[in-house]
Amino acid sequence: MFCFSYVTFETDSIYVNKLIYYGESSDILATILVTGGGGYIGSHTCVELLNSNHCVISVDNYCNSSKESLNRVEMITGKKIISYCGDIRNPDILRKIFRENKIDAVIHFAGLKSVKESVLNPLEYYDNNVCGTINLCEIMKEFLVKNLVFSSSATVYNSDLTSPFNEEMPVGKVSSPYGRTKYVIEEILRDLKNSDIEWSISILRYFNPVGAHESGLIGEDPLGIPNNLMPFVSKVALGIFPYLTVFSKDYNTRDGTCIRDYIHVMDLARGHLLALEKILSENGIEVYNLGSGMGYSVLEFIDAFEKICESKINYKIGEKRQGDLPIVYADTTKAREELGFKVIYDIKKMCVDTLNWQRKNPSGYSNTR
Ligand code: NAD
Ligand code: UFG
Repeated sequence: MFCFSYVTFETDSIYVNKLIYYGESSDILATILVTGGGGYIGSHTCVELLNSNHCVISVDNYCNSSKESLNRVEMITGKKIISYCGDIRNPDILRKIFRENKIDAVIHFAGLKSVKESVLNPLEYYDNNVCGTINLCEIMKEFLVKNLVFSSSATVYNSDLTSPFNEEMPVGKVSSPYGRTKYVIEEILRDLKNSDIEWSISILRYFNPVGAHESGLIGEDPLGIPNNLMPFVSKVALGIFPYLTVFSKDYNTRDGTCIRDYIHVMDLARGHLLALEKILSENGIEVYNLGSGMGYSVLEFIDAFEKICESKINYKIGEKRQGDLPIVYADTTKAREELGFKVIYDIKKMCVDTLNWQRKNPSGYSNTR
C-alpha cells in the first residue's frame, strides 16, 4: 500500500497544497518532527532519518539557515521532507503541524547558538531557546506526543570540572547566557518528566560538531564571520580569510592551546537516531554525551587540516577568548553502553568532508538565503 497525504505548506506566507509521496506506508518507521531542520545539525540528521525510512517534518524560521539545505537533503536521499516555515514560539503554527500530521516524536534543534551573541542579547536567547522549548512542549502535551530528543551542549557542565566529563558530573555553573538556556531547558524537561511519567526524553550533550555530509551538498554555513574553529580554518584554507587567530598558547595543555572533542556531524546525526529508538521503545529521561571521547588541541587540529588541504593554514597567536576552558572532552561510556553509540569518523574525515563542502559551496547557501 502506498502512503500519500495532503499537506499545507507555508512558504513566505503563501499557502500551497502539495501531494506528498512518502514511499510505501509499510516502510515508514515513525513520523518525526524536526525543529530547526534547516540548520547545520538538523539537516544532517534529516538525511539519517530519511535514509532510515522515517517520515520527516521540519519546522524552521530560517533565522540562521536556508531552505536550500532541505532541498539538498531531498537530493541526497531522493525522499521528500514536509517542511513548514515558522517559529516554534508561535503556538498556531505548531498546532497546525500537529493537526496535519500524526507525529510520533520530536527532535528539537531549533535555537540560537552563539555564545558571544548571547552575552549581548541575553533576553533574545532566553526567549527563543527557553520560551520556544516551553511552547513546543505545551503543544506536544496538547496533542499527546510525549517523545522528545533535545539538543543540549557540553557547555552545561560546571566550568571548574576536569575532563573527561561524564553525565553524573555537576552542571549549571556555566559561563554564558547561551549555556544557561541549555541548562534551564534541561531542568524544565526534568520537571516535566516528574510531572507526567508518560514523557520519554533524551537530552543529548554535544561536544564539538564539525564536518559535513560526504556529498558536499550540505554543511555548516554560519552567517557572517564564523566564531567556531572549523568553519574559520576552512575559510583560511580557501583564501577567504588571510589567517586564523589562535586564542592563546598559554594554556596548561600539551602545546599550550585548548583541547576539544570534535565529532563528525554524521556521527552526531546517527546518535540522534539511536536516542530516538530508545525513547520510542521505553519511557524515561536520560542524558547522553555525544562526542568522540578524544581531545585535539587547536594546533593539532590545524596540522590535521593542513595535511588534507595540502597547504599551509596561516595563523597568529592571539589573546585568550573569554570563557574558553583549557580542556573539554567527553566520557562516552554511557552513550556507548546504553545507546550502542560509537563514532565512525576520525579527524581526517572531518577535515576532508568540511573541505569538500567548502570548496563546492565557497559562499555556503548564500545565493539561496
Ligand atoms: P543552526 O543555527 O545551524 O540550526 C538551528 C536551526 O534552528 C536554524 O535552522 C534556525 O533557523 C532554527 N531556529 C532558531 N530559532 C528558531 C525558532 N524560534 N523557530 C524555528 N526555528 C528556529 O545550529 P546547529 O549547529 O544545527 O545547532 C542545532 C542545535 O544544537 C541548537 O539548539 C544548538 O544550540 C545545539 N548545539 C549546537 C552545537 C554546535 O556546535 N553546532 C553544540 C552544542 C549544541
Ligand atoms: N578557536 C581559536 N580561534 C578561532 C576559533 C576558535 O583558537 O577563531 C579555538 C577556541 O579557543 C577553542 C577551540 O578553537 O579552544 C574550539 O572553539 P569553537 O569556538 O569551535 O568551539 P567551543 O569549544 O568554544 O564551543 C563549541 C560550540 C558551543 C558548545 C561548546 C561545547 O560552539 O556551542 O562547543 O563544548 F557549547
